[in-house]
Parts: sequence; structure tokens; C-alpha cells
Amino acid sequence: MCKDSMHEFLQALPKCEHHMHIEGSLEPELLFALAARNKISLPSPSEDPAFESISTLLARYRRFTSLDDFLHYYFIGMSVLITPSDFESLAYAYFKRAHADGVAHAEVFFDPQAHTARGIAYETVISGFTAAQKRALHDFKITSELIVCILRHLPASEGEEMYRQCIPDMETGVIKGLGLSSTEKGNPPSLFKASFLDAEKRGFHRTAHAGEEAGVEYMAEALHEIHVQRADHGIKLVEDESVMQEFVDKKIMVTMCPLSNVELRCVKHVRELPIRKYLDAGVRFSINSDDPAYFGGYILDNYCAVQDAFDLSKKEWETIVRNSIEGSWCSQQRKTEMIALLEDVMRKST
Ligand code: HPA
Ligand code: ZN
Repeated sequence: MCKDSMHEFLQALPKCEHHMHIEGSLEPELLFALAARNKISLPSPSEDPAFESISTLLARYRRFTSLDDFLHYYFIGMSVLITPSDFESLAYAYFKRAHADGVAHAEVFFDPQAHTARGIAYETVISGFTAAQKRALHDFKITSELIVCILRHLPASEGEEMYRQCIPDMETGVIKGLGLSSTEKGNPPSLFKASFLDAEKRGFHRTAHAGEEAGVEYMAEALHEIHVQRADHGIKLVEDESVMQEFVDKKIMVTMCPLSNVELRCVKHVRELPIRKYLDAGVRFSINSDDPAYFGGYILDNYCAVQDAFDLSKKEWETIVRNSIEGSWCSQQRKTEMIALLEDVMRKST
């Protein structure tokens, strides 16, 4: 809970989450339970003392030194997911937790390449996630979408092959968009042009991690070379006024993840993030959790951290949440419902 008296208001806001890797919501408790059930051998404590227990693993998570240091644990963690029911349990646990934080709509990333490389069928992954989505809609009234990510540390040709496999599900809307994640520096967006421009031609939504560890030039490239409609993290716009203005003019949404940026040492403190600058310049952004099981907080913890750092007004939060709703990849009808929820919260809070 934040230190602020606004906590109740922040909790009540109808949030849209746009930047959450579903595999990054794998809590250590479920990780160890699935490893035991599926007989997956994790690194032994002599190889890596972090795997001694839930508490040592959580303690190690608090000492990430970089994106790659985190990704090492992220990919080991997801290796315990084997059956459709494992994927369903993972996603349902996230939706339940997100509901408690006041999430109305969630667009979640997933990484098929990390599963098919271990011999898990693409269909296993999709069937587990879609089952959880249906239950979450029924149980919590949370609407959700899937965004498939190309892993940029792997050859672009492999990402393209995975994207091609997803096209039928993208055509039916089972998958709502294409994303780009994993090691940013040295893997610029332009390497993935073929997949992204094909996705644009077919009318699929597109986003890419850009401006997390790398600079604003990756954000400009994501916009100009692979024609994204969002940039994930995107904390580097202040490095170039003209790129920032382009993001404002083209209404390109930035999906920020404050606690992730601190945990992965992109900034020392949430105060250093350009939240105030983006609000003043009219850059649209949402606030998200990225990999909540690894970064010590879900979406409301991220809202609270921003409030503690920037002391925003209710009016400013209304703008953030309105932009999050409008920048979502859901139907106009769902947006209208969420705007009504937002207006109700605003009315009750004055
Ligand atoms: N950045 C890049 N790739 C990722 C991240 C991230 O924060 N989380 C999971 N994959
Ligand atoms: Zn991310």
C-alpha cells in the first residue's frame, strides 16, 4: 500500500494493463510446486544458491543487475510449465490478483518460442491461456487479450517462423497483436521488419519493447522501421524532443513499468522516470507491472509507487486512466463501459 491517502482512489480506478508478461507472473511458490509435479530439475543450490528455497529465490530477485540478469531467471522459471493446466493455472492466478488490484482489462504478452524450444506444443500454451481468459471473464468480469512476443535475442528468422504459426489465431482474434521482447541492446527493431510489416499489412496490432535499456534511437526505429502503435517501457523520449513530439502527434502510447525500471537498474528511483514530463508534454502512457512475480509488485503497487514519487492529482490520474482505456486494443463498446466506470469513480471521489 502506498503512503498516500489516495490509496483507495487508486485501487478503485478501472485499470487497463498493457505490459505484463504472463510468464513473469509465475510466483516462486507455483514455480517450485510445478517443478516438483512435472519432475523438472531446476539448478541445484550448489550451482545457484538462489534455488535453495522460495525465500532465497525472492531475495535473489531483489538483486537483479540488468535486464539480462533477470531474463536468466525468467527463462529458467517458465521451464516448469508443461501441460495446458499449468498455463491455465499461471494465467488464472494473474487474473485473480489483477482483479484485486482493480484491473478491468488486461493485454498480456506471452513467449511461444521459449516453450516450443522445450518441446511444448504451441497449442498447449494457447489452450491453457484461453481457458484462463474465459474463467477470468466469468469470475471477475476482466476482459483480456493475448499479445505474442518475438524473442529478439534469437535469430529474426526464428521469430518470423513463430509469427507465421500465429497468423491463423491472429486472424480470429485469439491473439490480438504482435510484440517484441527480451534483450534490447544489440537487437534493434529493424531486424524484425519482415514480421512487423507483414503484421501491419494484415491489420494486426503491433508493439515493441523500446527505450528500456537502449536509447531513444530504438524508439524512433520502432516507429519508423516497424511501424509500432505502442512502445513498451519507452522511458527515453526526453533524450530527443523531436521524437517525443512525434509520439505526441501520432498518439503512440508508451507502456511504462516503474518498479521494473528500478529493479533492473534502468533508474535508481521511480522519481527519475519522466512521468511528470510526459504528462506535461502530452505523451500518452499507461502504468503496468511487466513481470510482477519478479519485480516485487503488481499493477496497484506500480500506481502507488508513482503516486509516492510524483504526488499526482486525481485529475492527472483521470487523464492517465482515460488514456489507458483509449489506448487499449479492445472494442469501442468495452472502452465506453470502462470510461463509465472511470467517471463513476471520479464522481464518488470528489
Ligand atoms: N524487457 C524485455 N523483455 C522482457 C521483459 C522486459 O522487461 N520482461 C520479460 N521479457
Ligand atoms: Zn516487458
